[in-house]
Amino acid sequence: MYVAESKRYDSMQYRRSGRSGIQLPAISLGLWHNFGGVDHFENCRAMLRRAFDLGITHFDLANNYGPPYGSAEETFGQIFKKDFLPYRDELIISTKAGYDMWPGPYGDLGSRKYLLASLDQSLKRMGIAYVDIFYHHRPDPDTPMEESLGALDTAVRSGRALYAGISNYDAEQASRATKILRDLGTPCLIHQPKYSMFVREPEKGLLDVLGKEGVGSIVFSPLAQGLLTNRYLQGIPSDSRAARDFFLKKKDVGEDKLTKIRSLNEIAKQRGQTLAEMAVAWVLRDPRVTSALVGTSKVSQVDDNVAALKNLKFSAEELSKIDGLLAGNPSSQNPR
Ligand SMILES: NC(=O)c1ccc[n+]([C@@H]2O[C@H](COP(=O)([O-])OP(=O)(O)OC[C@H]3O[C@@H](n4cnc5c(N)ncnc54)[C@H](OP(=O)(O)O)[C@@H]3O)[C@@H](O)[C@H]2O)c1
Repeated sequence: MYVAESKRYDSMQYRRSGRSGIQLPAISLGLWHNFGGVDHFENCRAMLRRAFDLGITHFDLANNYGPPYGSAEETFGQIFKKDFLPYRDELIISTKAGYDMWPGPYGDLGSRKYLLASLDQSLKRMGIAYVDIFYHHRPDPDTPMEESLGALDTAVRSGRALYAGISNYDAEQASRATKILRDLGTPCLIHQPKYSMFVREPEKGLLDVLGKEGVGSIVFSPLAQGLLTNRYLQGIPSDSRAARDFFLKKKDVGEDKLTKIRSLNEIAKQRGQTLAEMAVAWVLRDPRVTSALVGTSKVSQVDDNVAALKNLKFSAEELSKIDGLLAGNPSSQNPR
């Protein structure tokens, strides 16, 4: 029987999500990869246990995580029943709908029909009565935002979710969405954008909107799917995401990228960190970022990512070095 580590709350840091009552762990664990029906159940279980033992109270899912679609929720449900049932009130479990899930016009995008049916399916697969956060996974340009967000409001009012979230909305869409949700009486708890040293879009207005509106942010793929780690320094390992050549392509690990990754790795070393630790610390340097949402394929990666919390501070010189080398500007790599 699993008994959670008694010291699990001693070293994790918790950050308030915007102006809400919810605090999230600075590092959260996502189940997009490595938790599907094709993956090794005991490895999934070991990663979830280790994460919780280290104070990671938040697990992030979506209807179509797998493969096959839905199977990450099923895996999570089985592990939840075996290990986490006594800890339900210590956990923030999220799921989403917005990408393709089942055939036909009602299994994708942003209709009220799709979102609420999908949430019911997710709850059944996970074997839980409610999720803590239900997200609209991406904006749907052909459905009125009021309809998609109205479905989140219904999810909350009906008790199937405690909070509403949005993901992949740009700054302007997020600004509209927070107003609509506030008017509905279900304030937006959190936004889930992609953000890392390699993907800087949220800096172009989105984080400003979230800061102003008092909405939290949980940033996904802070390790750029593994590129911002030591994983690819010596080529493409056969058990890596890039080796599968699907969501992360082999061509994404080109010489140009590797040159930047190696230079970033040198900066990380000077900070006494692994590159993964520095990449996690880098997204958390902005106080508007509530949580870094990482994925893992091994227990050791959970440990490594949490170790980032030992050093979250960057000097102005380090930040400018990083910006310089990411911009491919060698002169700013050594600022005077
Ligand atoms: N809202 C959205 O649209 C959206 C989209 C994508 C993701 N997400 C969420 O964000 C979560 C994280 O996304 P992600 O998996 O792309 O995040 P990520 O943290 O950028 O990448 C995770 C991958 O990096 C490698 N890795 C992790 N820690 C490592 C370490 N310490 N050292 C070496 N390698 C390490 C592993 O790759 P290997 O598997 O190769 O070992 C792992 O699978 C997802 O699970 C999901 O919950 C949301």
